[in-house]
Amino acid sequence: MTKLNTQPPRGTRDFYPEDLRVRQWLFAHWREVARRFGFEEVDAPIVEHAELYMRKAGEEIVDQLYHFELHDRHLALRSEFTPSLARMVMARQGALRWPIRWFGIPQCWRYERMTRGRRREHYQWNMDIWGEPGVTAEAELIAAAFAACDAFGLGAGDVRMRINSRALLEETLRERFLAERPEAFAPLCVIIDKLEKIGADAVVDQLAEPGGPVGLARPDAREAVELLSVDSLEDAARGAPRGSAALADLERLFELLGAYGLADRVVFDASVVRGLAYYTGIVFEAYDAGGSLRALCGGGRYDRLLDSLGGKPVPAAGFGFGDAVVTELLAEKGLLPELPRAVDAVVFPFGEDEREAATKLASALRRRGESVELVLASVKLKRALADADRGGARRVYLLGPDECARNVARVRDLISGEERDEPLP
Ligand code: HAM
Repeated sequence: MTKLNTQPPRGTRDFYPEDLRVRQWLFAHWREVARRFGFEEVDAPIVEHAELYMRKAGEEIVDQLYHFELHDRHLALRSEFTPSLARMVMARQGALRWPIRWFGIPQCWRYERMTRGRRREHYQWNMDIWGEPGVTAEAELIAAAFAACDAFGLGAGDVRMRINSRALLEETLRERFLAERPEAFAPLCVIIDKLEKIGADAVVDQLAEPGGPVGLARPDAREAVELLSVDSLEDAARGAPRGSAALADLERLFELLGAYGLADRVVFDASVVRGLAYYTGIVFEAYDAGGSLRALCGGGRYDRLLDSLGGKPVPAAGFGFGDAVVTELLAEKGLLPELPRAVDAVVFPFGEDEREAATKLASALRRRGESVELVLASVKLKRALADADRGGARRVYLLGPDECARNVARVRDLISGEERDEPLP
């Protein structure tokens, strides 16, 4: 037999107890922020109908799908949570309390090319609001993302949210060169999302590819890319069509974010369009201020996802906030907490004659809610004490023949070193 590879599959992680403690710390903050914003937790299967993810706009995420056929069913590991949410909302559309505020922390799978903070599985905190068409939803979502940053110790100078509106871009492009071909807009966004990665010339090439999904004339493609360099709301306003509803939404959103006290953490950035085809309105991405990592979090409005899947249209907005990138950033800033193992007590019977008394004592302490490690093997006192110390125990209950005869346990406090007798239960 060939020797087993003890590493997990490339791009995936094992979580040993010390890793899981950090993950739980992160999740606890996400859950707490979601609770404070009035969101309820949901979950869905990690294996989904593959068709939920099979969109045709050329998105990278579709090519990265882990999918397989089993008993004539085409299934996929979820690459993101939003399609499952859409399925869940659609299934109960008539019986939900609107607007829906749901969150989840799904593990998502994408067969990615690996770079820093980009892996083949990650956990993603999702916060979504369904049934609210106004930007009050986006404002609330962005505020929640920052509340999580605050909880992690990431302050105003550490993370910036870059905000744009696909609707504004769509209005502008429709006026100029997409009037006859509205269906080209989603693939156009998918291509221009690659701007930073592949550069302006390659983006122009793809937008102008003859017979391609967008098929712009070359000068128009160039002009579309130039629109993306706008980085102030004032400049965007100057270029926007008259009476633009999308511009009014953006302006209102920035006002609301000011009311949340977030004015210095958010910027308008026309180059943020997001790589997923379903966004229709405001889009946003949070980055570390140092700019060395990929997006910590990304989301936006997706008002047409449900009808694209055959349901009644419902406006929706949300974001995904991954665990991998924020963990990198927190490590870089020394903000990951030390989370040593801890148990309240170790109960140590000197020999088998004391085991029954030790078992009863451990049970009584556990009933009181304490975490208790009962020493299972016959080991020497010195070894039991050293183990208890290494295992993060606060107290050790020693039960020798003498203690049992007196119906007590000798309790040693491993922090202060003090000892006392305690009656056995
Ligand atoms: P996304 O931008 O693909 O959006 O992912 C959201 C976040 O998940 C990213 O900003 C990043 O932190 C993390 N992430 C994504 N892929 C990876 C990866 N391969 N490795 C590590 N972290 C990753 C979505 O998935 C949308 N469904 C979010 C959403 C929810 N939009 C509306 N509601």
